[in-house]
Amino acid sequence: MSEAPIAVFDSGVGGLSVLAEIQQRLPQESLLYFGDCGYIPYGEKTPEFIRQRCGLMARYFREQGAKALVLACNTATVAAVAELRRDFPDWPIVGMEPAVKPAAAATRSGVVGVLATTGTLQSAKFAALLDRFATDVKVVTQPCPGLVEMIEDGDLSSPALCRMLQGYLEPLLQAGCDTIILGCTHYPFLKPVLEQMLAPDISLIDTGAAVARQLRRLLDEKQLLASGPAREPRFWTSGDVAHFAQVLPLLLPQTGAVQSFDL
Ligand code: DGL
Repeated sequence: MSEAPIAVFDSGVGGLSVLAEIQQRLPQESLLYFGDCGYIPYGEKTPEFIRQRCGLMARYFREQGAKALVLACNTATVAAVAELRRDFPDWPIVGMEPAVKPAAAATRSGVVGVLATTGTLQSAKFAALLDRFATDVKVVTQPCPGLVEMIEDGDLSSPALCRMLQGYLEPLLQAGCDTIILGCTHYPFLKPVLEQMLAPDISLIDTGAAVARQLRRLLDEKQLLASGPAREPRFWTSGDVAHFAQVLPLLLPQTGAVQSFDL
């Protein structure tokens, strides 16, 4: 069982930012990445639609014997993680949500910005996160429609992308944010360009590394950690295989074969 794969899921290529963190900490694990690119963007879909996709995907990977599931997507987590944990109570499921708690602790100006999808920012789970951890700071939220699609196309730095990003950053900077949460797993791929656009005293926070640590803890607790040599991840997509294979090396240092898969 400990040699069984871990399913890592996102609506597209964004979850690869989380996969990289998992690979770095757990190189001996067999990782199966599924990008639901045929149905992207989740950020503009209804919670019901996302729950249905996540339910189908989780059932499939559970039946195939995956030892754990990583929802490497903030939008999918806020919409579906509660239901998945109820439906699969004994299965380690790691979700992710915008890093409000660490950002509230880190800000010196008392103003935190959140870049995320419309779906994440409108969710009850995000509202609860603010109620719980952000009572002493001001939080400025910014949905970023269109950004995910550009990253899916492998665009991490074009003038058009920078213009769009500048428009989304403007209200956060105007409000005096010194800490910006990257609340979508696609956005860590924009860190290099963001660092060029922002003053050096503005911090960017994301949760990929925390998710990898939590996965490690859960597997350890259940004695499910794999041993042996490092393994290559596998990649599946419900979108265009050739396109995924073309974008993959722009996002990950180590790539691998891409397969078509839909539910
Ligand atoms: N990567 C996903 C997230 O973390 C969202 C992308 C999408 O809109 O599909 O929220």
